[in-house]
Amino acid sequence: MSAQEGTPGRVKRRGIGDFGKGGTPIVGLTAYTAPIARLLDPEVDFLLVGDSVGMVVYGFASTLPVTVEMMIAHGAAVVRSTARALIVVDLPFGSYQESREQAFRNAARLLAETGCSAVKLEGGSEMADTVRFLTLRGIPVMGHVGLMPQSVNDDAAAIAAAGAFALVIEGTVEPVARAITEAVPVPTIGIGASPMCDGQILVTDDVLGLFAQFKPRFVRRYAELGPLIAAAAKTYAADVRARRFPTSEHCFGMK
Ligand code: KIV
Repeated sequence: MSAQEGTPGRVKRRGIGDFGKGGTPIVGLTAYTAPIARLLDPEVDFLLVGDSVGMVVYGFASTLPVTVEMMIAHGAAVVRSTARALIVVDLPFGSYQESREQAFRNAARLLAETGCSAVKLEGGSEMADTVRFLTLRGIPVMGHVGLMPQSVNDDAAAIAAAGAFALVIEGTVEPVARAITEAVPVPTIGIGASPMCDGQILVTDDVLGLFAQFKPRFVRRYAELGPLIAAAAKTYAADVRARRFPTSEHCFGMK
């Protein structure tokens, strides 16, 4: 039992044991920063500090430049500002593919330096040995397969058999998602993988209309915050230029 679980009056953070198959669908979103994580925490089962942070927050063209240090900084911010959701942090590209030992070292850093509950890594059968090495040594792993139509069934089976507690399936047609979900003993979390999964995850900035560069077909926008933010900035700028802000109510020592 963690200290948090044992503290009366504190909300219990979800554990990987809470992630079952076939019940109410599991709800996941990405989070990278404290204010957003705080808002999402009461509504979701898990928050993923994804390596998508590279594109969404840093403006990189891909996730390749993301480092372990970035994941630690964002992971720690999300853990600090949440109490309820399970927090999963991505191992970024290049931090786990070289060897099982490299994967263990970086996964252990993510757990120890952020306080997250699990790590996620991308890859199929070729990563099964690494996933087994981590899970046998006490590191909870969420797998991430997909976008490779020919091998996704085998990949999902291999990563689940290696001890992953859940599997993200990305960009997969419904019959394949259904076959995987029926075949593996752990919950599947879909992103662009149809309703035939045990749960769903989306990138929060897509859901909120904050990442306007493009909208994948599998995203539903639940808010359009981009135009709201732009309008607020426009009004503020106009107020400052016209000397409508600040007024006496915003100033110290003035009635
Ligand atoms: O990094 C990320 O946001 C992800 C999601 C696409 C699942 O891995």
